[in-house]
Amino acid sequence: MTILDARTSAAADDTDAAIALVEQYAAHNYSPLPVVAASAEGAWITDADGRRYLDCLAAYSAVNFGHRNPEITATAHAQLDTVTLVSRAFHSDNLGPFCAALARLCDKDMVLPMNSGAEAVESGLKVARKWGADVKGVPEGRANIIVADNNFHGRTISIVSFSSDPTARDGFGPFTPGFRSVPFGDAVALAHAIDDNTVAVLLEPIQGEAGIVVPPDDYLPAVRALCSEHNVLLIADEIQSGLARTGHTFACDRWGVVPDVYLLGKALGGGVVPLSAVVADRHVLGVLHPGEHGSTFGGNPFAAAIGTTVISMLERGEFQARSAELGAHLHRRLRELIGDGVVAVRGFGLWAGVDIEPALGTGKEISLRLADRGVLVKDTHGSTLRFAPPLVISRQEIDWAMGQFATALREAA
Ligand SMILES: Cc1ncc(COP(=O)(O)O)c(C=O)c1O
Repeated sequence: MTILDARTSAAADDTDAAIALVEQYAAHNYSPLPVVAASAEGAWITDADGRRYLDCLAAYSAVNFGHRNPEITATAHAQLDTVTLVSRAFHSDNLGPFCAALARLCDKDMVLPMNSGAEAVESGLKVARKWGADVKGVPEGRANIIVADNNFHGRTISIVSFSSDPTARDGFGPFTPGFRSVPFGDAVALAHAIDDNTVAVLLEPIQGEAGIVVPPDDYLPAVRALCSEHNVLLIADEIQSGLARTGHTFACDRWGVVPDVYLLGKALGGGVVPLSAVVADRHVLGVLHPGEHGSTFGGNPFAAAIGTTVISMLERGEFQARSAELGAHLHRRLRELIGDGVVAVRGFGLWAGVDIEPALGTGKEISLRLADRGVLVKDTHGSTLRFAPPLVISRQEIDWAMGQFATALREAA
């Protein structure tokens, strides 16, 4: 049975039964493809009925190193046999090495470990406001933070307060004040928005959920210069773009830009555990004192051990190199389809936003066709598909996926 059949069939196979349970008991805050992962390895997912799929989403870049990467799972297994959680009420022997390694990777002084990406963003906003009050001298309650239109930084109340997506906001007010949104890629608009009470500019260097939108080459350097000139913190949300996804350790590296604060998450947890972090120098993160911020699970020994392994893998540079080399191939193959169902291709490394001709169907419809052909991608914003496979994918697997994509587009025409 194909996936398209399965969606309309009453057959009670394992896939249908699993989906029915989710439909009945899980909140309907997602609209997933009808694929039920039962196991996964490398770049492949096998479903409850034994069908195999090439994963070209990698859990929104949380699985950069591949499903069940053996180096990462070895660390996880070993750590399960020692200590997993003590809270920050005590020390653990893993937290210091993790923070030291991450600080070194980012060339910064200090690390604030958290869990989800949204928590890292929230934490970064709190740190920026506290820095504004304690260091910059912004009067209490007057700080503002500048963000970009069409941003995606997570789902908490404060974060959706500065979202431009009505689905993320409608019905969730009242919202947190203190944010100004300006067009992404427009440094002049950003300059106009800065005033004496601006404490930070928060940006994704490449906007992921917006459709992998790459700014003009002079944008991030100009933002860096403006932030330095006005004593404003530049906070780079590298939660999706960072950790080798673009062919660099950080997407900011592409433009030689060093932010004051990195927000990291997703791949930092090696596809095993939620692990995020705010990384900055002491004159920024040093504004936090005991009791002012925290998390029971943040920096727990299990996550810290995995994070340390992930950082050592990144320090070798091989994933960045793979992403750059195979990404160039992926982008070449995708650009060949322009005019044959593809309108535009954006991004760097193994990260591509692909606009489909709207007449062929919605992004979701094309994703279903692709899933039916054994390739998993995610649609975003109507007619855009996102290709972001685990960085362990091979050239042959990319070629196979591109063949399936070309056929799916032809079938839809
Ligand atoms: C750039 C960016 N920031 C923050 C988040 C939120 O991360 P999480 O879903 O782990 O809260 C995401 C998630 O997609 C993201 O892409």
